[in-house]
Amino acid sequence: MNETTENLKAAFAGESQANRKYLAFAKKAESEGKLGIARLFRAAADGETVHALRHLQALGDVRSTAENLEAAVSGETYEIDKMYPAFITQAQEEKEGGAEGSFKNALNVERIHQKLFREALEKLEAGEDLFELEYYICPICGFPAISEAPEFCPICHTPKDKFQKS
Ligand SMILES: [Fe+2]
Ligand SMILES: [Fe+2]
Repeated sequence: MNETTENLKAAFAGESQANRKYLAFAKKAESEGKLGIARLFRAAADGETVHALRHLQALGDVRSTAENLEAAVSGETYEIDKMYPAFITQAQEEKEGGAEGSFKNALNVERIHQKLFREALEKLEAGEDLFELEYYICPICGFPAISEAPEFCPICHTPKDKFQKS
């Protein structure tokens, strides 16, 4: 692995983070009624997405859909088995309740992602696609509801009307 590969990985990580950060900043600006500044944050966020996707392409990390599903399963599995359990233990030791709750919510949802990606891979290997379902995402924990939002999120109890169509 040469240095440019490392640089592409770092640039992909940085641009991806900038994208999400600017979206969070845009929401904050909107909540303060600063709609013009919010627009600027959203425009910059979209530009960072362009950069991130191009860096990922240059890395060669966008492959066939079968390979991409395998990569997705392995990423989720790492988060479930290693990353979040370690992070949760550390947060408990340091009495960081907010972080602990955020990690636990994510861990629960990663299990669902892992299952859904595995099922998709099985379908693909059988020469099929998934049904084109609609997904509704919990804005607090990220739980993906299929076809219809539940009355309350099974993970964090957020009510149905807060779910966002994906
Ligand atoms: Fe996930
Ligand atoms: Fe939730």
